[in-house]
Amino acid sequence: MSGVKRALTPNGWTLRTRLVAALTAVSLLVCAVVATVTLLALHTSLTGQLDDQLAAAASRTATAERPPGDAPHRPSDLPAGLRFLGAPGMGVGTLGARLVDGTVTDAGVLDSSGDLLQPSFAARSALTRLPADGQPHTLDLAGVGSYRLIAARTPDGDVLVTGLSLEPVNRTVVQVAGVVAGVAALGLLAAFLAGATIVRRSLRPLNRVAATATRVAQLPLHQGEVALSERVPAIDTDPRTEVGRVGAALNQLLGHVADALVARHRSETRVRQFVADASHELRTPLAAIRGYAEVTRRGHEQVPGDVAYAIGRVESEAARMTTLVDDLLLLARLDAGRPLAQDEVDLSCLLVDAVNDARVAGPDHRWELRLPAEAVVVTGDQHRLHQVLANLLTNARTHTPPGTRVTVSLARTGRRVRIGVCDEGPGIPAELLPVVFERFARGDTSRSRAAGSTGLGLAIVSAVTEAHHGQVRVDSAPGRTEFTLELPVRQPRPLEPHSPLTAVR
Ligand SMILES: Nc1ncnc2c1ncn2[C@@H]1O[C@H](COP(=O)(O)OP(=O)(O)O)[C@@H](O)[C@H]1O
Ligand SMILES: [Mg+2]
Repeated sequence: MSGVKRALTPNGWTLRTRLVAALTAVSLLVCAVVATVTLLALHTSLTGQLDDQLAAAASRTATAERPPGDAPHRPSDLPAGLRFLGAPGMGVGTLGARLVDGTVTDAGVLDSSGDLLQPSFAARSALTRLPADGQPHTLDLAGVGSYRLIAARTPDGDVLVTGLSLEPVNRTVVQVAGVVAGVAALGLLAAFLAGATIVRRSLRPLNRVAATATRVAQLPLHQGEVALSERVPAIDTDPRTEVGRVGAALNQLLGHVADALVARHRSETRVRQFVADASHELRTPLAAIRGYAEVTRRGHEQVPGDVAYAIGRVESEAARMTTLVDDLLLLARLDAGRPLAQDEVDLSCLLVDAVNDARVAGPDHRWELRLPAEAVVVTGDQHRLHQVLANLLTNARTHTPPGTRVTVSLARTGRRVRIGVCDEGPGIPAELLPVVFERFARGDTSRSRAAGSTGLGLAIVSAVTEAHHGQVRVDSAPGRTEFTLELPVRQPRPLEPHSPLTAVR
């Protein structure tokens, strides 16, 4: 319904429709004005000619009235009052009438056989309203038709009316009107067709510019390295034309955008490279710190209690920092699109191992594993997939109280596998849920702080899953939190780097 409404309102019309409609409307108006003026002029001119003939007939009437001597042409069969109609030159259809004291005494119209036809009563009474001024007037006489009439007074006071039918004039005007209408219709059709063709041709460059803009709009420009090579074709960038100016400006804009995107990509790459380099460089000193702390702790000499405590703290914080640095390095590598390994990964085995590890780390939780009967094998990076599962299981352990049941399930549907990690813990806080996969997003409970939370675990889950062309989602409510991971069984293409420019160690 609204579509129909929009189609009928000019606002919803395309430029092409509007131009063609305007052109057709203007043509229609011009045709109407020309036709009206022509027909009016024709009518006036024909009526003028008729008036000349009428004036001649009226003067013959006056002459015929003048007695005596000049005998009427056909005196015999005309009534006495209308004898003037028999004067030579009175044509068929001529109307004659005599009014005495404002009343029609005689009236008749000459027919083709020379007889007189009697006008109707209404026509006769209409004749009485005619002014006797010797000027032509138009009257519609019922039953007789439209007439031009002249009324003149005779010397003895009678009024004589002479009239000629307007019917030939009207017929000619109607015929000419028909011809004009036909020609105008053809002209309008021609104007419409020519207009539509011309407008379509004129708008073609604009369509090409719009097509370029549409193609650019569909490019994924929001991230990564973008090759923005789309440009408006050179023929549509002539600055002397309107469309050319739009095309040239669009090309200039696209040039700027392309430059900006290259600059953005360079700076992104630089930041990524910096994070990767920094993480990489930090690993060696961290390993040294951990090593020295361990050596000191295990040293044979007894160290005072507070020193032993301090060394223990140094060791645990160094271990935490190592995890953080490893996570950062992994994310930087995934961002850079570093190729992942393409192993044949037995997910069933991987799950068994991961759940066993979790059982050891969290003996107070109740761990359940549901596997399909046959082994599920996918292509992917075994290490990374193991890390994904470990992160999810660690979360299920560290963000839930002891005794919570955690169910890990695996299912294969067609070309995809689904891994579910579901716990019956308190759930993810509502304000955290929308951003839970973002980097450094974490709940601020004392439990998670104590668990050495970094906020990178789920970011890694998400990045690794995406690199495997899979999806991860979470549904969480108090009492039930479920992470669902979907992976394709076969990787669609070799796992390639997103950007060959970026080399991260
Ligand atoms: N199973 C879960 N139950 C409750 N909260 C969770 C669960 N998994 C994740 N979270 C919340 O999501 C946050 C982000 O998790 P993650 O990215 O792994 O970081 P981290 O575990 O290092 O805090 C956690 O801090 C925690 O608040
Ligand atoms: Mg975590």
